[in-house]
Amino acid sequence: MTLYSRVRPVAFKLPAETAHDLGKRTLRAAQSTWPTRTALSAAYRYDHPTLEVDLFDTTFPNPVGVAAGFDKNAEVTHALEALGFGFVEIGTVTPYPQPGNDRPRLFRLREDTAMVNRMGFNGQGMERVKERLEQDGTPSIPLGVNVGKMNSSNESEAIEDYRRVFDRLSPFADYVVVNVSCPNTPEEFDEGSPEHLRTIFETLEAENDRNVPILVKIGPDSPEESILDLVDIVQEFDLDGIVATNTTTSREGLESPQQEEWGGLSGKPLKDRSTEVIRTLAEYTDGELPIVGVGGVDSAASAYEKIRAGASLVQLYTGFVYEGPSTAKQINQGLVELLERDGFSSVEDAVGADLG
Ligand SMILES: Cc1cc2nc3c(=O)[nH]c(=O)nc-3n(C[C@H](O)[C@H](O)[C@H](O)COP(=O)(O)O)c2cc1C
Repeated sequence: MTLYSRVRPVAFKLPAETAHDLGKRTLRAAQSTWPTRTALSAAYRYDHPTLEVDLFDTTFPNPVGVAAGFDKNAEVTHALEALGFGFVEIGTVTPYPQPGNDRPRLFRLREDTAMVNRMGFNGQGMERVKERLEQDGTPSIPLGVNVGKMNSSNESEAIEDYRRVFDRLSPFADYVVVNVSCPNTPEEFDEGSPEHLRTIFETLEAENDRNVPILVKIGPDSPEESILDLVDIVQEFDLDGIVATNTTTSREGLESPQQEEWGGLSGKPLKDRSTEVIRTLAEYTDGELPIVGVGGVDSAASAYEKIRAGASLVQLYTGFVYEGPSTAKQINQGLVELLERDGFSSVEDAVGADLG
């Protein structure tokens, strides 16, 4: 029995956001001294040459990252590194602090191994995040920065929001993600419209003197045709990749009573849909466009499925909540076994192995 299997029932009695805040405070305390950080690393990091991925002009020690939303304000990047993750994506970061939606706004769907959230881009804003990255230093693993707009911004203000956060935080980033797919922020205008996306990408490209890789994060709910239209724009602007996918508004096949809550659904029920989107993207681009796969990853098998469908890297949030601190280690150890079983000498060799 692991320590987490004993802690989890207690943590799950607390409201989800309270448990999350408590977990983050524990991680922040653990990363603040060398002995605890080193002890965590010794217990949880698992490094193996087979797991290394060279992408975005950097080396990811393993392909299992923390998805956006877990560490919105860059408070626990070093602890997440010590827990064995191969990269961390902070954010979504907005230009100014914003409170997000009223609580409660995060719900566990235990029967479905899922969560619903309608956080609404709560965050401390880019200046606080920048200060923290300067004070704490960036982790040794690659750091992604997920950028977003203020909830109150109209279409042209939104462009300026993305530009400002990019400008402030891209110096710390190994890659930047433009998040235009959050299902629980107010819809002031169509964020996915081709004209809007073109203006965002044009603006960021003009700002991108250091050639930081830029990716876009997409949702799982759009029809295939609009997903492919977006890929055309991504390729037109020579962007560096796609993060697929964000949470879903679908409630298909759920058992938990909490499914009534509005917001984005994450976790196991999202797994197959997000893998399907990854496969569609990889097939359409002939595997030429890097894909970061996210949605329902909680085991080596579910990570491997996404890699074989075309993802070069995977991320998770909900799986970490359900599986606890050893999640990355378990997945990485299992991945090495699966890769060896199937005769692949690296993760990169297995990317897209299931495509026709
Ligand atoms: C509480 C919560 C907050 C999230 N916040 C963000 C966010 O700020 N920006 C973002 O791009 N995605 C956000 N996400 C979506 C995750 O990054 C991820 O795309 C989604 O949860 C699917 O992965 P999972 O099934 O492993 O959780 C959030 C997810 C959760 C559960």
